[in-house]
Amino acid sequence: MLIRFAIAAAALVAAPMALADDETVGDIDRGADAYDASCVECHARPGRFMQGIEGDDEERAAWLDEFLVEHYAEDDQDRADIIAYLLDL
Ligand code: HEC
Repeated sequence: MLIRFAIAAAALVAAPMALADDETVGDIDRGADAYDASCVECHARPGRFMQGIEGDDEERAAWLDEFLVEHYAEDDQDRADIIAYLLDL
């Protein structure tokens, strides 16, 4: 009984967090700073790789989100900011 309660409570706590993740809003200015901090040493000109990423903004954002989570932008907020910055180039 106690274990069941713990699982239910964990699910209740996790659900709103998952929602918050999906709604993480990127900030272009913060993204420019985060790009300078995490990416520019290897990608001096982000316009180059952005040309190779096809689709509309939503498709490019989804591709970047999946790629960058394992490529120097693990943090959800930083990643959202960097994506906002890249799509604005
Ligand atoms: C230590 C060097 C390094 C850092 C730091 C780095 N990258 Fe990369 N990146 C690479 C290399 C090398 C590749 C090509 C190989 C690969 O796909 O992993 C690449 C590939 C990519 C690609 C894929 C391009 C394509 O068309 O497939 C994107 C997009 C990208 N990086 C964005 C970023 C962003 C945004 C950051 C910062 C959060 C970043 N990178 C940080 C070295 C780096």
